[in-house]
Amino acid sequence: MYSVRPEKNEDYAVIKEINDLAFNGEGEGKLIELIRGSDHFIPELSLVAEDIEGKVVGHILFSLVHIQTETGLIPTLALAPMAVLPAYQNQGIGSILVRSGLERAKELGYTHVVVLGHPNFYPKFGFIPSIKKGIESPFAVPEEVFMVAELAEGSLDQIQGKVIYPPAFETVS
Ligand SMILES: CC(C)(COP(=O)(O)OP(=O)(O)OC[C@H]1O[C@@H](n2cnc3c(N)ncnc32)[C@H](O)[C@@H]1OP(=O)(O)O)[C@@H](O)C(=O)NCCC(=O)NCCS
Repeated sequence: MYSVRPEKNEDYAVIKEINDLAFNGEGEGKLIELIRGSDHFIPELSLVAEDIEGKVVGHILFSLVHIQTETGLIPTLALAPMAVLPAYQNQGIGSILVRSGLERAKELGYTHVVVLGHPNFYPKFGFIPSIKKGIESPFAVPEEVFMVAELAEGSLDQIQGKVIYPPAFETVS
């Protein structure tokens, strides 16, 4: 039994710890701190999963990025990073975080989300390779790992371009 809620100040240390352990390094935890201190941060979309006793075991972040189109910048969301404590992985917590995050993003009025991630994991939540929608990755990665999900059907129909991440993302691969 796990529930999802927005992060509080007192969760910062445990969020860093979860990311350090899940990624076996400090890059993602530092990325979260950089985003938290920037205009790209959306407090309602930095979410933690906690167990019935209130132990925080997972975290997901959606932050503001843009699609550079011929006519200007279109705001969108980037899902990154996401981490679940190693001992709690493969129990569905990551999926709960993704689903809850997408629902909350939709409630806040966002209409699309991009992710760089595993092509076997994200399609079950509605993600498809972004190139199918005319959205290019800024990273030199295989087409199937850069994905997009429409939170409102057809929301990307008139949008084509390349996603721009803030420089902080360049510190993490
Ligand atoms: C990816 C991660 C957040 C998933 O959380 P989780 O609670 O284990 O996810 P769920 O139990 O809901 O789903 C498990 C699924 O994730 C897959 N999975 C596990 N680790 C994975 C990884 N590193 N990359 C891609 N998929 C992964 C499993 O194969 C499983 O797939 P299935 O549902 O088709 O069987 C978690 O495994 C993790 O923290 N991994 C290390 C950090 C990471 O790679 N984060 C993602 C990149 S930002």
